[in-house]
Amino acid sequence: MQKFNICTKFAKAMYFRKYSGEYRIFNFPGFGNKTIENNCTKNKLEDPVSGKCLEPTSGRKASEPVEKRSKLLEKVKDTAEKLLCSKDKKSETTSTPKPQCGKIEPTNKPEKVKCLRPVPRPMPVTERPEDCNVQKQEIPKIKLSDGYVMPMFGLGTWGSKPHKVTMAVMHAIKVGYRMIDCAHVYENEQAVGKAINDCIKKCIVKRDEIFITSKLWNTYHRPEMVVEGCCRSLKDLNLSYLNLYLIHWPMGYKEGKELIPYDACGRILSSRVDYVDTWQAMEDLVQRGFTRSIGISNFNMKQIERILKIAKIKPVVNQVECHPYLNQMRLMAYLKKKKIALVAYSPLGSPARPWAKPDEPYVLDDNMIKSIAFAQGRTAAQICIRYQIQRGNAVIPKSVTPSRIESNFEVADFELGDEEMKIIDKLDKGFRVVPLSKLSSHPYYPFHDAY
Ligand SMILES: NC(=O)c1ccc[n+]([C@@H]2O[C@H](COP(=O)([O-])OP(=O)(O)OC[C@H]3O[C@@H](n4cnc5c(N)ncnc54)[C@H](OP(=O)(O)O)[C@@H]3O)[C@@H](O)[C@H]2O)c1
Repeated sequence: MQKFNICTKFAKAMYFRKYSGEYRIFNFPGFGNKTIENNCTKNKLEDPVSGKCLEPTSGRKASEPVEKRSKLLEKVKDTAEKLLCSKDKKSETTSTPKPQCGKIEPTNKPEKVKCLRPVPRPMPVTERPEDCNVQKQEIPKIKLSDGYVMPMFGLGTWGSKPHKVTMAVMHAIKVGYRMIDCAHVYENEQAVGKAINDCIKKCIVKRDEIFITSKLWNTYHRPEMVVEGCCRSLKDLNLSYLNLYLIHWPMGYKEGKELIPYDACGRILSSRVDYVDTWQAMEDLVQRGFTRSIGISNFNMKQIERILKIAKIKPVVNQVECHPYLNQMRLMAYLKKKKIALVAYSPLGSPARPWAKPDEPYVLDDNMIKSIAFAQGRTAAQICIRYQIQRGNAVIPKSVTPSRIESNFEVADFELGDEEMKIIDKLDKGFRVVPLSKLSSHPYYPFHDAY
């Protein structure tokens, strides 16, 4: 029996690893990573529909004949944003040096930049007809500092396997979720995009009624690679723009196809790109229409201050771990002053995280949370979600289980009393479920500071 349990645990961990970049950081150094699946050569871009390689062009010129343009647009199934962009980058290629033990790898030149430009189009195929009967859902919203409005509640997708996440996102949208939290490193954006586009086609939701977030992965921090990182997510999600694009972590990794590059000793290869330079390239994404808003994730106070000093466009969001055992009280107060919204990730304490040690506490098993849940006639998860909303934070619980997707959404029709909020506040233990401690020697590791 014990043998069976060990086998099951190992098999589960391995399966999870495949779909979670962050998990590999903790547990599988040296195992190598899944590379981005693109059979095209360096100089070509894969057609998102046929899988054939598109010839590189110097970009579509305004003077190109209309038929030629529309042919190409058709080729990428009317997702015109998938055209190679012009002049942006003079391509540079990399010859990856063999990693050496005990040596921090210098920042390499990036691979050829393959970028994709959203092209305004009058009526994309994925847009639903105006006469569709939309179900209006009342979800509390936050007005961001740039004027856009963000739902306070959304679905997380980290660790959701591609074949499950399509169903989960579709179900969530049907239930009334209007925000989906995605990231390139979750390795499931194509499956998430399929669900979003299916919902739009089936008239369940309009594109402008749904708020899509994605994140720039750590291997794309070099300013000239930021467009490529964003375009990859746009291509995978099959969308022409994002609502919000975040720098996933302040720490950069060595550029290349590996999401988590390791040296010969199994250590993550970092890059020294300053996130302040990355931020300036993020601002460009807004100007060019790839995303409406930009923000950061896992940044501490000092790091945010550095960005605010140079920002032409201020970050509208800092997405950070936040739950009753890590309530981020001080960071929250600071962000409020700076008019930056806090988005709470792992709001349930990420109970299925495979690296959890047996003696670690589980938020959803906390006796206080369970008593409040009992008194309110709610689940512990609903209490944790409601806790964030009442503090003014947006919250993105993840689930692929239909019944949980539904019950997690039912948090608008009850309220936690002041006393209950205070009791939950006091549960804080400064306990991180995503400490990323393997990166603690990186110069931009954010969690050495108190907040
Ligand atoms: N920016 C970042 O660095 C970062 C880091 C971590 C997470 N995130 C984002 O935040 C999202 C949420 O965080 P998370 O996925 O770490 O953890 P979480 O939302 O706290 O917990 C998700 C886990 O809880 C389970 N669950 C969901 N609803 C439940 C319920 N009602 N009762 C009991 N269990 C329930 C889910 O299982 P089932 O799926 O099996 O139902 C899943 O295993 C992520 O998915 C991701 O989008 C961002």
